[in-house]
Amino acid sequence: MAYTFGTLFFLVSCSFSIVYGYKVVTHDLPDKQATAEKYNYHFVLVPEELDNEYWRLVEKGAQTAAKDYGVMLEYVGPKQANIDDHLKTIEMSAASKVDGIMTQGLSDEQFTPLINRVVAGGIPVITVDTDAANSNRMAYIGTDNYYSGFLAGKALIADKLGKANVAIITGSFYANHQQQRVKGFKDAVKKEKGIHIIDVEESEISRVKAAEKAYQILKDHPEVNAFYGTSALDGIGIAQVVEKYKKQDQVYIIGFDTLPETIDYIRRGTIKATVVQEPFEMGYSAVKMMIDLIKGESVPSVVHTDTRILRIVDLPVSQLDRKVENR
Ligand code: BGC
Repeated sequence: MAYTFGTLFFLVSCSFSIVYGYKVVTHDLPDKQATAEKYNYHFVLVPEELDNEYWRLVEKGAQTAAKDYGVMLEYVGPKQANIDDHLKTIEMSAASKVDGIMTQGLSDEQFTPLINRVVAGGIPVITVDTDAANSNRMAYIGTDNYYSGFLAGKALIADKLGKANVAIITGSFYANHQQQRVKGFKDAVKKEKGIHIIDVEESEISRVKAAEKAYQILKDHPEVNAFYGTSALDGIGIAQVVEKYKKQDQVYIIGFDTLPETIDYIRRGTIKATVVQEPFEMGYSAVKMMIDLIKGESVPSVVHTDTRILRIVDLPVSQLDRKVENR
């Protein structure tokens, strides 16, 4: 699997190097030259998981900016979240001498040394969505993950009137952003005597695993009456189980992100609230910031994109209409 992935990436990369290198060394083949000269830079965006809908939105933003600014943008990474594949992709992108790499800083132990090596080798790195704040990355753009978790905690207190037995399902115990989202939440609820955190489980950012964990939690801890899912697919997995066992009225769910399925569950009243992130904006601005950096312009080292809570009352009327249609 890793081998296939590596080979694929290598081939894609080679073809890019050939086309891209072409711009530098060849001036006598007008058609190919014209194609190559359309691009000013070659950047790579490495997501946590290639086909994850959330990351497709980051990609969409980055591709839009790439088009606006004449950048050749490659979107490559693990098919399913996998730290080794993720690190390998960054390493290979650096080896193919791209002009800039945009990726997450998932954990300090593994990502910081690699990011530092890449930057020392002359390739700028911008962290997107998840920061490796102690690394030499040039800038971070994404949610303030601690604050977003704090907001989730405050929303749960308000919605449950300060009384809940909560289970947390988090994407990963080891990733910086997931840890911060849990910490922010815990800090927000810690003074509430009526809020108890009963269990914290890991989904490996898989909706199937999130559903399995939710099922197990409800079985082992029947007192749980609220869930907090800290990555885009967790709330969806939890909601599937809660609907299956018809516990919508007893169990409160707060999730993350605004993927179409999450919005459906909010419309149906199964997910009560979600934390909004701006993945398109992250991708778009990351490309723009990378260009500014390369041009030697000053770029803020941290750019926090907007984050807020969304509930059914915040949905536009046009989206609520679909609820009536579905009946
Ligand atoms: C996070 C991403 C993560 C995704 C997984 C989002 O909430 O910001 O880092 O890869 O969830 O589904």
